Amino acid sequence: MWRASVLTIFPEMFPGSLGISLAGKALNAGLWSLQPIDIRAHATDRHGTVDDTPAGGGPGMVMKADVLSRALDSIPPDKNNSLRPRLLMSARGAPLTQKRVAALAQGDGAVIVCGRFEGVDERLIEARRLEEVSLGDFVLSGGEIAALALLDACVRLIPGVMGKEASGVEESFADGLLEYPQYTRPAVFEGLAIPDILTSGDHAKVAKWRHSEAERLTRERRPDLWAAYQARQKPQNGPKGST
Ligand SMILES: C[S@@+](CC[C@H](N)C(=O)[O-])C[C@H]1O[C@@H](n2cnc3c(N)ncnc32)[C@H](O)[C@@H]1O
Repeated sequence: MWRASVLTIFPEMFPGSLGISLAGKALNAGLWSLQPIDIRAHATDRHGTVDDTPAGGGPGMVMKADVLSRALDSIPPDKNNSLRPRLLMSARGAPLTQKRVAALAQGDGAVIVCGRFEGVDERLIEARRLEEVSLGDFVLSGGEIAALALLDACVRLIPGVMGKEASGVEESFADGLLEYPQYTRPAVFEGLAIPDILTSGDHAKVAKWRHSEAERLTRERRPDLWAAYQARQKPQNGPKGST
C-alpha cells in the first residue's frame, strides 16, 4: 500500500478533497493510506508552542526544529525498512514536475511536512534531509494545500486507481508535451464543430493529428518545454563510438 504521512498544525485539513472522487475511493479501497500527524501534539509546553521569533529579527514566526523533529521521529519505521522520501512543501523548493510525481507514485509513499508562518528552522531541513518541493512561483499561506495537490497528483498514478491504466500515458507532460485538445458530444456547440478527423474513425490519422496539436500547443504556450522536447528529438551526432 502507498503510504502518506503528513505533518501539519491543521490535521483536520486531511483528507479534505482527497476523501472524495478518485482519491477518496482509492483511500476507502485501501490502495493508499493517509496519516495526518499533528505537529502541536509534539510541543512540550502546555500552550502547544510550535513556533518562535526569527533569530536575527524580522517579521513573523519560524517553526521550531525541536518540535518538528520530534513529530518526524514519531513515525514508526516502515515494515520492509524502506525509507519513504521526506518532503517539505516550500516556495523555494524545486518546482514539482510530473516526472517527480511519477517517481514518487512508484515508491512506497511519502512523508510530507507542511510549513506555516515564515517557514521552518533551516537546521531541521539539514538534519532530517528534507527535499524542498514547490508548487510554483507563488506564496501560499501554508503547505497543506500544496501537500493535498502533490498527493492528488501521486495517488492517481498508483496502479489500480485510474480506470484505465492508459489514462496517465497520454496526458500533459507524460512525453514532455502539453495535451492535445479534447472534444465530446454534442457534435456542434454554439456553431463550433468537432474537427472532422476525430470522427473519421481513422485511428492513425487521429493519433497523428493529436501529436501535431500537442506539439503546436507546447510551442505556443510553453517555450521552455518546447526547447527541451526539441533537444531530445535531435539525433545524437557525436563521433562514432563516443559515449
Ligand atoms: C507563508 S509561507 C512561507 C513563505 C516563506 N517565508 C518564503 O518566502 O518562501 C508558509 C508555508 O507555506 C508553504 N508554501 C508557500 N508557498 C508554497 C509553494 N509555492 N509551494 C509549496 N509550499 C508552499 C510552505 O510550507 C511554507 O513554509
